[in-house]
Amino acid sequence: MSLKSLISTYQQQVDNVLDRCLPSTDVEPTNLHEAMRYAVYNGGKRIRPILVYLTGTALNIQSKKLDIPACAVELIHAYSLVHDDLPAMDDDDLRRGKPTCHKAFDEATAVLVGDALQTLAFYTLSQTKNAAMITTLASGALGMVNGQAIDIDATGKSLNLAQLKNLHNNKTGALIRASVKLGALSCVDISAEKLQKLDNYAKCIGLAFQIQDDILDIESTTEILGKSQGSDIAHNKVTYPSLLGMKDSKQMAQDLIAEAITNLEDFGEAAEPLRWMANYIVTRCY
Ligand code: IPE
Ligand code: IPE
Ligand code: MG
Ligand code: MG
Ligand code: MG
Repeated sequence: MSLKSLISTYQQQVDNVLDRCLPSTDVEPTNLHEAMRYAVYNGGKRIRPILVYLTGTALNIQSKKLDIPACAVELIHAYSLVHDDLPAMDDDDLRRGKPTCHKAFDEATAVLVGDALQTLAFYTLSQTKNAAMITTLASGALGMVNGQAIDIDATGKSLNLAQLKNLHNNKTGALIRASVKLGALSCVDISAEKLQKLDNYAKCIGLAFQIQDDILDIESTTEILGKSQGSDIAHNKVTYPSLLGMKDSKQMAQDLIAEAITNLEDFGEAAEPLRWMANYIVTRCY
């Protein structure tokens, strides 16, 4: 199977699980439930759940055993985007080609959508009764929030490369790392060594993912991105291209992907989709 068909298979699979776990729009408060579904079902790439599935399958775990963690991490991600777009944060009007949640509904609803999606993520994951998974998702979500706090604090200021790397590792890397670890933890007898290798892989692709996001904010178009191109410059954000220049940023993303892949040597053929995914992260155009 190609990466393209794997992506679409797992997108459909996680969408079905999300549909079962999100509250019905027939149930009160219907406005909140409509807004939650609006925030989740609007064409996201589903990269984090796909990483859960691909990591699990690299360890020969059946994909249906990965449904709950895959769904939980996407709920956290969807919540993070709703709050990220709020006027108090990045103040963006467009997300995945549609008005952002606070534009389509209102700000109070968008705040509550984030709260509800986050709570629902942990409620859903608690069904696994797997404490290590719950801790993993919590530290990913907390890392993301810490990163967002650093991002807001740093807006309009100058950062050095180490500070920017720390920001990106938290705001984006933490949840990507959690995704890979959730997949890894679905294998109950995984060795400490394999867990560490997968974590090294995840750290590299997580940083590369945000570097590519910074690059696309400059090089892509609003139409392709589905979010406002140039948002980082408009909001005075420090990014990899603003600090290193475009050429070195692209090189750094490529180097991180090469490093990520070196950590998969012990996993053989079953990890081929994780290698494809690493390359996709820096070649994607939205
Ligand atoms: C966007 O993430 C936010 C970042 C962490 C850079 P994605 O690019 O995964 O967004 P969707 O889910 O596909 O819309
Ligand atoms: C967002 O980073 C990271 C999150 C935790 C949501 P950005 O602010 O760069 O994400 P986009 O570009 O709005 O998707
Ligand atoms: Mg932001
Ligand atoms: Mg943003
Ligand atoms: Mg961005």
